Amino acid sequence: MDYSTKSVLECGSATIVNCLPEIGLETAVSEIIAGLIEQPKRISSKYFYDKTGSELFEQITGLDEYYLSRTEKAILQGLPFCAVIDCSDVDIVELGSGDHSKITLLLKKIPPERLPGVRYFPVDISRPALETSIRELTGMFPELSVQGIVADYIHQMHLVPGERKKLYCFLGSTIGNLDREEAMVFVRDISETMNPGDGFLIGFDRVKDMSVLENAYNDARGLTAQFNKNILNVVNGLIESDLNPEDFEHKAFYNRTERRIEMHLEAKRALRIKSPFSEKDIRIRKEEKIHTENSHKFEEKDIRFTGECADLAVQNIFSDDNDWFSLVHYRKMI
Ligand code: SAH
Ligand code: AVI
Repeated sequence: MDYSTKSVLECGSATIVNCLPEIGLETAVSEIIAGLIEQPKRISSKYFYDKTGSELFEQITGLDEYYLSRTEKAILQGLPFCAVIDCSDVDIVELGSGDHSKITLLLKKIPPERLPGVRYFPVDISRPALETSIRELTGMFPELSVQGIVADYIHQMHLVPGERKKLYCFLGSTIGNLDREEAMVFVRDISETMNPGDGFLIGFDRVKDMSVLENAYNDARGLTAQFNKNILNVVNGLIESDLNPEDFEHKAFYNRTERRIEMHLEAKRALRIKSPFSEKDIRIRKEEKIHTENSHKFEEKDIRFTGECADLAVQNIFSDDNDWFSLVHYRKMI
């Protein structure tokens, strides 16, 4: 993760601006060390996504057990785009864009003659994911204007240009990776940058049978376990520590009270971790867990409440036949 060199990179016909240095490596290091000292220990899920983490996530999206991506894609495929927003002269801002497979489904719905009026701003903390995705996307849609932004969307949304009509997209139920309160504040903050008539498309994974949920995060091939453990390699790169992923076991389970999947890394033995940024060794007890991710699940009342808190009206809720996933189109009212 590139917190050190502010740069503008030419990527075919597109540009990518790396804004992470505005946050700075020191902030990331302090946040990680504080989380490892705290009780219970935690690492923010935004640190999953270096090159390997982004590639592992992309492989997870193809797993049979991980129904989220294919269900949302089927909903997007069936979506009448012009029912979502008038598609000329619009800025599409995608938060946590990852690969381009979902936005491609939307862009294909725009008549080609209107594409030159569309500007696409993918925002992602993973520079490698953004580079690969933009290279492929500009090859597919040469007439589309693309500007990639490497940034932390929680802290850096001021970087998105503000003048034109906008459609924000926050897909994949990535909203579920925020705490409930944090998600409300985030959607409200974005809404405050929107003008009346602007749109917001948010993907929500729905509450469902616990076994379906738990299987999605405990796949038979062990890709989710690899994804979870890889966060330790990212942490090692940032705080120059000596965490060994093999000293930990992947744990993912449904917390019924909080309506969320929790992912943890459980230490197989007692550990003392060194980092030049921490005066003392970081001690981890045998069987102590590091909390790496929450993936909240949503009911219809949550979807409506999210809009109400942010002055966004629910225009449409598009769901699959099983109500396993919902893509919600909100519109800014005032
Ligand atoms: N929207 C895509 C990818 C989801 S994975 C899909 O539905 O398939 C989550 C994406 O959000 C990753 O690409 C990750 O790099 C990005 N991400 C996670 N936390 C972020 C943050 N705080 N700021 C910016 N991007 C973030
Ligand atoms: C990106 N996010 C919505 C995924 C999720 O399901 O919470 C990340 C993920 N974690 C484990 N598998 C996939």
